[in-house]
Amino acid sequence: MIFRPGLEGVPVTQSAICDIDGLKGELTYRGYPLADLASNSNFLETAFLLIWGELPDPKQLREFEHQVQMHRRVSFRVRDMMKCFPASGHPMDALQSSAASLGLFYSRRAIDDPQYIYDAVVRLIAKIPTMVAAFQLIRKGQDPIQPKDNLAYSDNFLYMLTEREPDPLAARIFDRCLILHAEHSLNASTFSARVTASTLTDPYAVVASAVGTLAGPLHGGANEDVLAMLEEIGSPECAVPYLNKAIAEKRKIMGFGHREYRVKDPRASILQSLAEELFARFGKDEMYDVAKALEEAAEARLGPKGIYPNVDFYSGLVYRKLGIPRDLFTPVFAISRVAGWLAHWREQLGANRIFRPSQIYTGSKPRDWSNPESRTPSKEN
Ligand code: CMC
Repeated sequence: MIFRPGLEGVPVTQSAICDIDGLKGELTYRGYPLADLASNSNFLETAFLLIWGELPDPKQLREFEHQVQMHRRVSFRVRDMMKCFPASGHPMDALQSSAASLGLFYSRRAIDDPQYIYDAVVRLIAKIPTMVAAFQLIRKGQDPIQPKDNLAYSDNFLYMLTEREPDPLAARIFDRCLILHAEHSLNASTFSARVTASTLTDPYAVVASAVGTLAGPLHGGANEDVLAMLEEIGSPECAVPYLNKAIAEKRKIMGFGHREYRVKDPRASILQSLAEELFARFGKDEMYDVAKALEEAAEARLGPKGIYPNVDFYSGLVYRKLGIPRDLFTPVFAISRVAGWLAHWREQLGANRIFRPSQIYTGSKPRDWSNPESRTPSKEN
């Protein structure tokens, strides 16, 4: 039996959703190059493409946008539940709990009914941003702001978060960030979603399990840590000594490295250009020069091992310029990635077999139970 830790290089499903060429640094959603979608599409259109496999025609898109707009509000019960969450709790934990709670409201599991699937997709895509924004205001002791019907999806999220209608350029750049983060084949959270989906549970449990997986610092949580790291470095001159020390101490550089890429993540390149667009309009973030100095220094030290900036390296600088607090960077990632998770949920249901891998047992040989008095303390206690 071959054992590959982390399932590296082991195909565990067939999928027609997203393709990555990690040597060329190319990424497609349903065959469309990501850069093309990020320039020309919008998040809801891209989500439709990912989930149903084709770009929507104008009528389908209008209907999808309308349905999402109609379902943005969350029940007062969900808001009241969030008011009981500790204000010091991480917003990803709040989001995981809130997403799971939707299963209490929509408990029917008609997963072979296309209308049930459509409604669940609409609800999750519509309500997750509202829940993220609501927790942000609730933890500050304020009442959540209701969605504004005349605002488009991304504009409305920034409005619910900041209580101001966003500048159109800022809203467009945010929408492009959502497109960039919407899907990335079988990453840890998507695998988690597919494993949960394979039990035929409800889609709210599928998304809640994926949110929990995305939160970790080796996955989506890295975007928060990148900014903390840049601030610790402090200035461009300190990038080389920081890098040398981290490598000597065998510490990972956050926002670098990827299981799939041996070159710079194409999403990082686009996010870097979006950051520059924002800085040209709204003023530069001083940490940008630190980030560029670190990238340059890392190219020499880590480049030969195929370790380059990933999607999380520049996204935090973009989000911070948009006025998004640091601990909401990963919830914002989830707002977008829910599209990919739902695409994989649908695909999994289309050819389902429950995930039940095997293991190589390394534990004790069979032995007999002993009386407590005759036991000696084990080493771990
Ligand atoms: N900094 C320094 N060295 C690194 C880094 C890094 N960021 N990433 C990998 N390496 C080295 C690692 O030390 C190991 O070296 P050696 O072979 O000498 O022991 C080698 O590269 C392979 O690393 P690995 O951890 O076995 O690789 P992996 O494919 O299991 O992990 C990763 C991929 C993304 C978890 C890892 O690169 C990492 O921890 N990066 C930092 C955290 C991060 O930025 N995560 C976001 C990932 S992309 C977006 C997302 O998934 O949300």
